[in-house]
Amino acid sequence: MKEVLKVIDVQLEDIKPYPNNPRRNDAAVDAVAESIKNFGVLVPIVLDKNNVIVAGHTRYKAFKKLGWESVPCVMADGLTDEQVRAFRLVDNKTAEMSEWEPELLAAELEALADFDLSAFKFEVPNFPLPDVKKLAETRQTLAERFLFAPFSVLDARRQEWQERKRLWYSLGLQSDLSRENMKTLGSLAGSMPRFYYYKEMQEAKLGHKITAKEFEEKYAKDYMPKNSTIKVTNTGGMLSMFDPVLCELMYYWFCTDGGKILDPFCGGSVRGIVAAATGYNYTGIDLRQEQINANYQQAADILGGADKIKWICGNSLNVKELAAGEYDFIFSCPPYFDLEIYSDNPHDLSNMEYADFLATYRKIIEGCVEMLKENRFACFVVGDVRDRKTGFYRNFVSETIAAFETAGAKLYNEIILVTPFGSLPQRAGRTFQRGRKIGKTHQNVLVFYKGDTKAIKETFKEINIADLDAEVLEE
Ligand SMILES: C[S@@+](CC[C@H](N)C(=O)[O-])C[C@H]1O[C@@H](n2cnc3c(N)ncnc32)[C@H](O)[C@@H]1O
Repeated sequence: MKEVLKVIDVQLEDIKPYPNNPRRNDAAVDAVAESIKNFGVLVPIVLDKNNVIVAGHTRYKAFKKLGWESVPCVMADGLTDEQVRAFRLVDNKTAEMSEWEPELLAAELEALADFDLSAFKFEVPNFPLPDVKKLAETRQTLAERFLFAPFSVLDARRQEWQERKRLWYSLGLQSDLSRENMKTLGSLAGSMPRFYYYKEMQEAKLGHKITAKEFEEKYAKDYMPKNSTIKVTNTGGMLSMFDPVLCELMYYWFCTDGGKILDPFCGGSVRGIVAAATGYNYTGIDLRQEQINANYQQAADILGGADKIKWICGNSLNVKELAAGEYDFIFSCPPYFDLEIYSDNPHDLSNMEYADFLATYRKIIEGCVEMLKENRFACFVVGDVRDRKTGFYRNFVSETIAAFETAGAKLYNEIILVTPFGSLPQRAGRTFQRGRKIGKTHQNVLVFYKGDTKAIKETFKEINIADLDAEVLEE
């Protein structure tokens, strides 16, 4: 080893601070003195040939404060006067240019937890924040291309989403915007909680049986909880409906261009009407004839007919006979077991014991996936349901995944749809307080794929939402 810097001992009284030192350092003197006390002198003061400080003004003050008489120094004697002057600035400036690496600093401080570093006032800077503006711009361009950014959380509360929903409603899809004039979309039994229980209550009052239709039209309003998101119209119609924006989005994203869609639990008209309006062919099956009739009526009112739509009344357990053929996309929203009871038909899934419900549900999915072409997607919108007695979740989302996987379509995307709050804020406090149940304000949008994922690139064309919008909504 060779000596490169010569450290000399200089009397403190012989050292002269630079009169034009542009750094204010008083705030650091105590901390430097503390450092010298703790660690001794490891960094000498740098002096020019006249003993004027080049680097180390704070150290000089700290030594003075500590009462040192002489201190270790190095001489910058190889530099010109101008270089000395410049180095005085540069030395400070280069120190300023470094930054703390927050994660590493935090780790080092944690490792030194027993060492008293309080005098040095370490603060871990905030972890670097992403450039919010840039993120928003990226998000915007993604949305321009794909309608909404293709992320695993879709937020139906966002203004853009709500506005687009209104656009769909303005085509004539019924909504709470047209409550008074709304026609019956189908049986209210499907959406009104405890419909049959209330119907029986009314029958007991009347002393005779009534039809579901009569109950809907005359009495249901009196039983509907005040804060329900489902509203009964003047004609006994219901307002709860499938989100048309989610519907078009799933078609755009996961159905082949102009492809054939199969929906084994169609319920209302939304998925059929959105399909036809966006250029797809749709086949929906539902057990309830009155729902099928109402759907055809809606299609006639909005589209002037149902050219690209086939609504079939029947049990989807027989899907292969009822809707024989090959399909490009399966899209549905099944009964979430007993969350809503749709009818008293024994084949209605919402009317079964859980074990029978699951077995039938699996068979229906199996039948549908068999008819799904190779290299195609399937999408089920589901939400978990609690056991009414125990409050435990039934794990219905996982059951749906297992059913598809057994049928030969594997889980490819999982999307959380953040749903509007509705009446949840009024209900959530009580249910949380009583049973620590978290208010549910999301649905799971499960996307499956059958076939070889390498084929996706050739099978699905590039998406350009601008073209689609021009075709569909500005017509
Ligand atoms: C979740 S709901 C659909 C209603 C929902 N609000 C919508 O519009 O998407 C499920 C539908 O499945 C139907 N359903 C129940 N069991 C069925 C079965 N075995 N075959 C066909 N449809 C069935 C019910 O009549 C109900 O309309």
